[in-house]
Amino acid sequence: MSTRVLVTGGTGLVGSAIRHVIQTTEKRNDEEWIFVGSKDGDLTDLQSTRELFEKYKPNKVIHLAAMVGGLFYNMNNNLDFLRKNMLINDNVLLVCHEINVNKVVSCLSTCIFPDKTTYPIDETMVHNGLPHDSNFGYSYAKRLIDVLNRGYFEQHNRLYTSIVPCNIYGPNDNFNPTASHVIPGMIHRLYNIINDNTVDTPQEERVFTVWGSGKPLRQFIYSLDLAKLAVWTLREYDSVSPIILSVDEADEVTIEFVARSIAKAFDFKGRIEFDTTKADGQHKKTASNTKLRSYRPDFQFTKFEEAIKYTVDWYLQNQDKVRK
Ligand SMILES: NC(=O)c1ccc[n+]([C@@H]2O[C@H](COP(=O)([O-])OP(=O)(O)OC[C@H]3O[C@@H](n4cnc5c(N)ncnc54)[C@H](OP(=O)(O)O)[C@@H]3O)[C@@H](O)[C@H]2O)c1
Repeated sequence: MSTRVLVTGGTGLVGSAIRHVIQTTEKRNDEEWIFVGSKDGDLTDLQSTRELFEKYKPNKVIHLAAMVGGLFYNMNNNLDFLRKNMLINDNVLLVCHEINVNKVVSCLSTCIFPDKTTYPIDETMVHNGLPHDSNFGYSYAKRLIDVLNRGYFEQHNRLYTSIVPCNIYGPNDNFNPTASHVIPGMIHRLYNIINDNTVDTPQEERVFTVWGSGKPLRQFIYSLDLAKLAVWTLREYDSVSPIILSVDEADEVTIEFVARSIAKAFDFKGRIEFDTTKADGQHKKTASNTKLRSYRPDFQFTKFEEAIKYTVDWYLQNQDKVRK
């Protein structure tokens, strides 16, 4: 009998990347994959969640659906991030248990770890201390997924687990300036600077202003790489404990490097400046992928500048469907 996998959040950045790898490199004939978005059912509503899962009757689930956003969106909407994500996660895991789904992989994030901590962060530290003020709502909702997973294991012997990605970027990201993360936000703003026909300034004299000092350090994973690892987690990783899915510590980059890589991908000829009146967020949140490397020592991550180029090219070629 073939395995039926349902992916919640299947229309988003990560969901669409999983769809792509499932149709190409990760294809298997004994699996049927179904990708759903918010139009298929509102997962903040228990009844609607039950109807959706009854309709597809999956054996396995990758649960990605969430209210997601960048630093500035989080800072202004902490209550909504907490409540919506708690509702979605509680409904999805409860209904998975009710209909006897035997494996669920849900999604946490490295940005939910304690603000004051030692580095590198690892999987044992999820609940150690207060998250950063800017995203306490999102962080606590995500941390509770791990609490739910432990509860479903202890009371019902369920294998519901979680992955912890670092910052993700790639095709089908949300480029809307009010909600976007740093990379799609920069891509969208630079595109507008280059294509602003309301001014006569030649491109050489145009200025790409980056928010903050440019000094914070971040690990970024290309969505197609994460997709392959998420599929591997569903098929092979049999522990309830979270697993960090991140590039190596040596691959951490500054926000300034991100801005310069995006400018290079656009072949931007103007200047880059930094607006230090804007918040930087956490200086760094280096995560260790030692656990992942113990299972997948040879996994090859796409090089950052190469993946940024693919992402910018996708953005330029898909202006009609870009979320912005
Ligand atoms: N992006 C990152 O840098 C990052 C980093 C670490 C972890 N994560 C986690 O990765 C997962 C996927 O994130 P993403 O970046 O792919 O997000 P995304 O592109 O914003 O996609 C979010 C997905 O969730 C769905 N969704 C939102 N609210 C819903 C609701 N009430 N009912 C049903 N579906 C709903 C959306 O459906 P529609 O589009 O159809 O409305 C969409 O498919 C999330 O759990 C996120 O927390 C993301």
